[in-house]
Amino acid sequence: MKHAEAKHRIEELVKQLKRYDYEYHVLDSPTISDVEYDRLRRELERLEHEHPDLVRDDSPTQRVGGEVLEQFEKVRHEVPMLSLDNAFDEGDLRAFDARLQKRVGSVSYSVEPKIDGLAASLRYRNGRLERAATRGDGAIGEDITHNVRTIRSVPLQLDRSVDLEVRGEIYMSKSAFLKLNEARKAQGMSPFKNPRNAAAGTMRQLDSRVAARRELDMFVYSVFVPDAEADQPQHEILSMLRELGFKVNPHILRAGDIDTVIDAVRNLEATRQDFPYDIDGVVVKVNERHLYEHIGYTVKSPRWAIAYKFQAEEAMSRVRSIHVQIGRTGQATPVATLEPVELAGSTVSRATLHNEDYVAKKDIRIEDYVVVRKAGDIIPEVVGVVFERRSGTEKPFQMPHSCPQCQSALKRIEGEADHFCPNPECPARNVQQLIHFASREAMNIEGLGIRLIERLYDEGHLKRIPDIYRLKEQRQQLISHSGLGERSVDKLLENIEASKTNSLEQLLFGLGIRHVGKKVSRLISSHFPSIDAILESSREELLAIEEIGPKIADSVVTFFASEANRRLLEELKALGLTMRYHQTGSDQDTLKDLTFVLTGSLQTMTRREARDRIESLGGRVSSSVSGNTDYLLAGDNPGSKLEKARRRDVEVLDEAAFERLIDTRRK
Ligand code: IVH
Repeated sequence: MKHAEAKHRIEELVKQLKRYDYEYHVLDSPTISDVEYDRLRRELERLEHEHPDLVRDDSPTQRVGGEVLEQFEKVRHEVPMLSLDNAFDEGDLRAFDARLQKRVGSVSYSVEPKIDGLAASLRYRNGRLERAATRGDGAIGEDITHNVRTIRSVPLQLDRSVDLEVRGEIYMSKSAFLKLNEARKAQGMSPFKNPRNAAAGTMRQLDSRVAARRELDMFVYSVFVPDAEADQPQHEILSMLRELGFKVNPHILRAGDIDTVIDAVRNLEATRQDFPYDIDGVVVKVNERHLYEHIGYTVKSPRWAIAYKFQAEEAMSRVRSIHVQIGRTGQATPVATLEPVELAGSTVSRATLHNEDYVAKKDIRIEDYVVVRKAGDIIPEVVGVVFERRSGTEKPFQMPHSCPQCQSALKRIEGEADHFCPNPECPARNVQQLIHFASREAMNIEGLGIRLIERLYDEGHLKRIPDIYRLKEQRQQLISHSGLGERSVDKLLENIEASKTNSLEQLLFGLGIRHVGKKVSRLISSHFPSIDAILESSREELLAIEEIGPKIADSVVTFFASEANRRLLEELKALGLTMRYHQTGSDQDTLKDLTFVLTGSLQTMTRREARDRIESLGGRVSSSVSGNTDYLLAGDNPGSKLEKARRRDVEVLDEAAFERLIDTRRK
């Protein structure tokens, strides 16, 4: 292609891809398929490769990182980056409002989720991102431009040639965080404690390729224009930032008075778990920015804003007893039974103590007062002892020598902290394996839930996984014994039969191989045509798959080297399980190209489960109703999204209609 022609095409492609990036990363509603996007992107890469002089600074290809710094440059903030005063309860918010009333009369407010990440400032010159910096001590921060350029929702070049500085919060979504930690664990690296640490750790990297791989994001919430008083109200500033192409949090509300603020704060606190990223509070700002100077500042913080901190996700409780729980892989985990305590919206009465070393290191004893923490969807854990409250009568915990279920001697693998019950026939292990195998995430056998499995196990109908597929031979006994009724039994048996054609990925995950979670199962299945191929694969072949480290590879090889496990697979094959990756009518296309929005509280699943389900069926979930929304899945108390959906003529589904939709599309 001629130079002039290439130049023109590159400009066109950059423009198009920027638009698609914007739709995907900022608006959360893509308008083209991934395949089409990749095609355009490859064309651009090819042209840029042929004409290196035509590579534009704002090309999407320039976000992959590459720049490696020697050290961070210090940056002085022209306008200091202040922090906020805190409010801990309703009273603090009312007092904040009263102070403002007294000083300037009635004001309205902007109520903004407080994103738990790290504050950053972005400076644009002639519309081009020129410098990004951390907050640092508020006066001096560090230059992190190389890393911020990799964040896909941050525009590199604005449509208007303006000078301005925007500020906001860089964060990592919960899903990106889990994915990152899974990969780190697989590579034997220590996981990050929470998404904020992961985001901060990423920004501290001198090598921008690390940031490019890690899916960071940024919401912006304020702007400064040099030499201009930004006098418009905060909500107009936010709209302007949206129009400029920045990602602004969609849950920001305008409130006319403090009662409305308090309602909004309560609502955010109640739904905080549903957010795809961590929020640790709510920032309440006076909406009328022209009053800011008049309202004034303390040494550290403005008087026109306050940060309401959510109730801690930590609470104090007391250890009643400690027992050992056996998981499906045989892992023996000490679990504390606690005096029930309210923790961020639910009652907690059990918490994990991880393993023997953890208990010893933290010196956790029976009857101790302890601090319990719940983080996201993770199981509550005891994080430490309140030593001041020790009386001296607390009893230390001894890891038992034998499995509490089958009495086999527990084993500890060298170099690992966990104990295992080595007995493959251990009832505790078997029940957990069956539960896992049938679970929604694995073989998704509807009707075969925890309680039924436990009962069928106790009554001798089920012992090992293959027995699930032999239940049909016991149809009569099931009908007369299980208390299920003929129709339920038949439905159950039907679901069991249907699961035989599940994907290889589901089966692999269902087998419960150590270190082989959902994502790893998907990865491995996509590299092998059948279970036999995986069974025969070598450690090296597995290691050749990107993202698979020695820990996983060893675990897979060990699993399939076991005579018992090979027999298990032979049996399953004989029972008619397909065990192939690609099958006709694969579930992954069931909801393809459909965008869902979730609202209200669902009865049959949590919102997270609903999201996982939709995504595993190839659909998309977006956080707000827009022109691209196909369905609103609404539970009880649906709120404003429902009205918005009705206004936009978006079809509203309850849970039953949602299931029917899936059924019809499967056919
Ligand atoms: S306004 C002077 N708005 O919370 C006003 N901050 O202590 C500065 N944050 O350092 C902050 N979301 O890192 C503001 N919507 C939001 C925010 C927000 C998160 C963080 C930010 C700031 C800290 C406040």
